[in-house]
Amino acid sequence: SETPSALTILFGATGDLAKRKLYPSLYRLYRKGHLASGFAVIGTARREWDNDIFREHVKKSVIELTTDQDQIEEFISHFYYLPHDVSDSNSYIELRTLANELDNRYSLGGNRLFYLAMAPEFFGTIADHLKQDNLTDTEGFGRLVIEKPFGHDLPSAQELNAQIRRSFDEKDIYRIDHYLGKEMVQNIESIRFANALFEPLWNNRYISNIQITSSETLGVEERGGYYETSGALKDMVQNHMLQMVSLLAMEPPISLQDDDIRSEKVRAFRSMRPLTLETVNEYFVRGQYGPGENGDMLGYREELNVNPESNTETYVAGKVMFDNFRWAGVPFYIRTGKRMPLKSTKIVVQFKDIPMNLYYRPDEQELEPNLLVIHIQPEEGITLHLNAKRAGHQLETNPVKLSYANSGTDIMNTPEAYEKLIHDAMRGDSTNFTHWDEVALSWSFVDVIAEAWRNEKAAYPNYPAGTTGPKAADELLEQDGFFWWPLDMLGVDVCN
Ligand code: BG6
Repeated sequence: SETPSALTILFGATGDLAKRKLYPSLYRLYRKGHLASGFAVIGTARREWDNDIFREHVKKSVIELTTDQDQIEEFISHFYYLPHDVSDSNSYIELRTLANELDNRYSLGGNRLFYLAMAPEFFGTIADHLKQDNLTDTEGFGRLVIEKPFGHDLPSAQELNAQIRRSFDEKDIYRIDHYLGKEMVQNIESIRFANALFEPLWNNRYISNIQITSSETLGVEERGGYYETSGALKDMVQNHMLQMVSLLAMEPPISLQDDDIRSEKVRAFRSMRPLTLETVNEYFVRGQYGPGENGDMLGYREELNVNPESNTETYVAGKVMFDNFRWAGVPFYIRTGKRMPLKSTKIVVQFKDIPMNLYYRPDEQELEPNLLVIHIQPEEGITLHLNAKRAGHQLETNPVKLSYANSGTDIMNTPEAYEKLIHDAMRGDSTNFTHWDEVALSWSFVDVIAEAWRNEKAAYPNYPAGTTGPKAADELLEQDGFFWWPLDMLGVDVCN
C-alpha cells in the first residue's frame, strides 16, 4: 500500500545502529519507490555536526548499495542534522522549528516518526519533551519507534512504559523486535495458516516437540559492558526467542489485522507454564563460554569490559510448556548462545512416530520421524523430512527431504528486517512490533529465571568457545527421550 509522506526524526543519528541498519534501510525503501516523494529525515545527536557532515555520513553508509551517484545525491539531500541535548527544552524548540519548516517544504502533512535509536534511559525524557514542546501536536500521525532493551525486568519495563505512555498512546508506540522483521519469521504464520496440510497436525496429537535454535559464532565483541548487565536470557530469550515461540504456539487469528494477531500472541504468552524459583533448574540451563579449545578464542571472562569472575550467561537452553488444550505435553525447546560453531536460526517441528512401523532403513536403522524445518537464517526456506521407499529394496526406506528455498533473490529485493519494519511503521501497521502486553508477559516469565540464577553462582565457564554449549543442554532433552537435531544436518538444499 501507499506509504504516506512523513518526517522521520531520528535520535541517535551518529550511532552504530543508524549507520548499519537505518540509513541502508531507508535507502532501499527510497530506491524501490516505497518512500513517498515527500520524505525527510532529521538526525539528532550530541555531536556538533551540520547537514553536510551528516549527509556525507549517510552517503558512506549506503555507498555500497549503488553505483548511481545522482540518485545518492538526491537521497541524501532529504537529510538534515541538528545537534541535540535530550534534556534541554531549547533543543526541542529548535527541532520543532526545523520540523515545521520541512513539513511545509516537502508537504509532509504533519506525519512524524520519532525513532529512538539510543539507550532506553532517555526514552522517558525524550517522549515527555516531544509532547511538552509541541512536536507531537500536528495534523498528521506521531509515532514513537523504540529499540530494545525494553527494561531489564518487569518493574523497569513497567516504569519505562509508564513514562512513554504519558505522551504516546499504545497504538502509536512501535517496539522493535528485529526478529519479527525477518522474512521467515513472518512466514511462520503463512506456513501454518495458509496450508490445509499443517494446521490439522499442529497440536499435541501429532507433534512430539518443537526445537528453536538461534546460534551465533561471534562472542560479545565490544559490547561487554552492555552484555554484562543483560546476558543471553535478557538479550535473546525474553524477546526474539519467546516471540518465535508465540508465533508457533498461537491459535489461528480471526483476521490479519494487527490487533487480532497480537491478541492471539498474547493468549499464547498467557498459557505458558510459569516457572517458580524451585522449578527453574528443571526447565532452564545456562552456559558461559570459556577459551576456545585451540587457544584461538578468548573466554567470555577475558573479553573487554567483562568482569573476570562474571556470572553472566552467554548461552541459554530451556523448555517452555503450554498448559492449554492444543499443546498440553508438548515441549518447546529453545536454545541460543554466543561462540557456537555456526551462525544459524532454525525451527524444527518434530512429528510423533507412526503408531506401528513395518519399515526400516538400511542397516536396520530406525525410521526417522517426520520433521518440518523452518530455516530463518542464514538460508531462508522450509524443508520437510519424509520417508520413502528405496528403489528396488522391498521394505527399506530412505529419509528424503522436500525443500523450498526462499533465497537466491537479488539482495536489493530481499528486504532486511529493519527495512520492512520501518516501512510498516510508516504505513501504520503494527503487526510485527511487540505490544506492551507481550512485553509484560515475557518479562514475568523470564524474571523468575533471572532471579533463580542471580541467587546461585554457576560453575562457569562450562562450554569452550566454538562448541555447541554445555552438556546439561543435551540432558534437558535426553530426559524427555529427545535430542537436539544437529544444525549442520538440516540444510535447506534438496538431497537424496
Ligand atoms: C540482538 C542481540 O538483539 O540480536 C545481539 O542484542 C544478537 O546480541 C542479535 O547478536 C542477533 O541478531 P541476528 O539478526 O544476527 O540473529
